This record gives sequence, structure tokens and C-alpha cells, in this order.
Amino acid sequence: MKKTIFNFNEMKGNEQITWITAYDYPFAQVAEKAGIEMILVGDSGTMVQLGRKTTNAATMNEMLIFSKSVRRGSPETFIVGDMPQGSYEVSKEEAIRNSLSFIKQAYCDAIKLEGGKRISDRVKAISDAGIVVIGHLGLTPQSASTFGGYRVQCKTVESFDETMEDAIALQKAGASMILLEALPNLSTKQIAKTLKIPVLGIGAGIDCDGQLVIMHDVMGFYQSFRPWFAKCYIPDVIKDFDLYIDKNRENLKSLGRETRSDGLLKLAELAIRKYIQDVKERKFPSPDYTYPLKEEELNNIRKSQYWNSSYE
Ligand code: KIV
Repeated sequence: MKKTIFNFNEMKGNEQITWITAYDYPFAQVAEKAGIEMILVGDSGTMVQLGRKTTNAATMNEMLIFSKSVRRGSPETFIVGDMPQGSYEVSKEEAIRNSLSFIKQAYCDAIKLEGGKRISDRVKAISDAGIVVIGHLGLTPQSASTFGGYRVQCKTVESFDETMEDAIALQKAGASMILLEALPNLSTKQIAKTLKIPVLGIGAGIDCDGQLVIMHDVMGFYQSFRPWFAKCYIPDVIKDFDLYIDKNRENLKSLGRETRSDGLLKLAELAIRKYIQDVKERKFPSPDYTYPLKEEELNNIRKSQYWNSSYE
């Protein structure tokens, strides 16, 4: 059954939330079949599907095409539409209008947008319009050039303070969840423990309320770049796929005809199932998929007014 924001709130502190990106019908279908709880139709689609070098060029039209096809593939999954750069900065009215397009045209359940205090009036306006809003802090790819590229965040007291203040501002403005990208685990843990709403991570360590991964990283599909916190799950499941095919060897023709489960999408399903299992059992992300924090960096962040040593 489709999970709601009410369920995700209940899961905070009790059960990890599982989230993956999708941009098209077949992968949305397979993600739902594998049992994923949330799908992000990310503007990363403009890179991994359309071949652009950054997310900045993504348009509302592209995002709506991706989102509509994902909804067709995943009718029973909580889908988040990612607001592309330029769709929420200009005015509150435009931010509301574009958010509504995700809800009314693509039947998304929520929208996500990047930034903290600087966009908290947009978050308030969109959530006052009755739309579930998810904030995105840490490494925010749309504005990566303003902080000198794709860099790990919250390794200094200044960066930690700013992110914590942004997170508190977003919660106050009405955000229902926050995604943290590219943070060391202990910084993530402080933010997740401080906030009442679910805090999920991508490359942000294990101590938060759930995980997001990019579909193309899980599948090993995107060859231009893979952040080192991203895990390809195909090597973990390829033997299971072989076993499954062997078990059905006598019957392969009917497998392909009747269940259509004899090819790449079956392999993808096994990979997503394994990712879900690892997140639920708190095995992913393990330390080798987590940004380290040096002792001196940790001692420096501990000086923050927001640092709570009982959360360490
Ligand atoms: O577009 C996307 O997939 C995202 C993730 C990188 C967090 O925003």
C-alpha cells in the first residue's frame, strides 16, 4: 500500500525509509515491484538520461515528462518531483504554480527543492498551498558552482552551523522532510536528531531516517561519473540472477512470455531488493561508502552552539 507522509513521520527513529530515483516507466515499475517506499524524479535525469554535464539545464517540461512516465510505472509509490533550477527562484507565485504542475499533471505526492534560509519563504508558500515539500541541503548540485564544485559539506563548524540553521528554518517554514547530501555521518546524525521531521541522506552516512540512491549508480548505468559514496548493486546480485535463471531453465520461454522476468529488469529488481534490505538492516551505507571526518575536524565542529554531545 502506498505510504504517506504520516507513515514516514511514524517511521522516524523506528524504521529506515527507502528512496531511489527513477526517470522512466520501466525503472519506476521495477522499483515499485521491488518494494521501494519513495521515488525521486530527480533533475539528475537531465544528466543520466539526457546526457547533459550538470543539472542546471533541466526544464519543467523535461521534469514533467519524466514524472508522468514514472507515475504510470509506479501507481502505488510516494513520488517526489524535483523542482529544476529556475522553477522556484523568481517568485513565490511561480514556485507554487510549478509545484502544482507536478501534482496536477504528473500526480506526484510531493516536490523537492534545493536551499535553506534563502528559499524558506518559497517552502512556506508551497506548503501553505497544500503541497508536501521536501528540502535539500548540504551539497546542492544546482548551486554547486557557488561553493566551488561538488564538495563534501559540514566538515567545518561554519558549514555545520549554516546547514543546521537552514534545516531548522526549513522545518519551521513547513518542510515535511529534509534530504542531506554529501555530509560526514556525525554531522548528519546531529541534524537528524535535532529535527522532528524525517531527515534522509544521500552520501550522508547511516545515522539518519532513511537513504536515497540514484538508480543509475545502483545499476552501474552512468559511466561519466560516480560519487564514491554510491554503490553499484549488480555484483551483489548477479549470482542470484544466475541461480534464478538456472532454476527456470526448462521454462525460460514461458518466463519471458508470461512474467517478462527473464532479463535486465529482473536483474534490476534483485539489485533494488538488495538495496532495500541493506537499508532496512542498516548495512548501507557502510563506512566505505561514507565520507570520513578527521579527528581535528570533529573537534572543530564540536565547538558549534548546535552540537549536542549526547547525540554522538
Ligand atoms: O536530482 C537528483 O537526483 C537529486 C539527488 C542528487 C539528491 O537531487
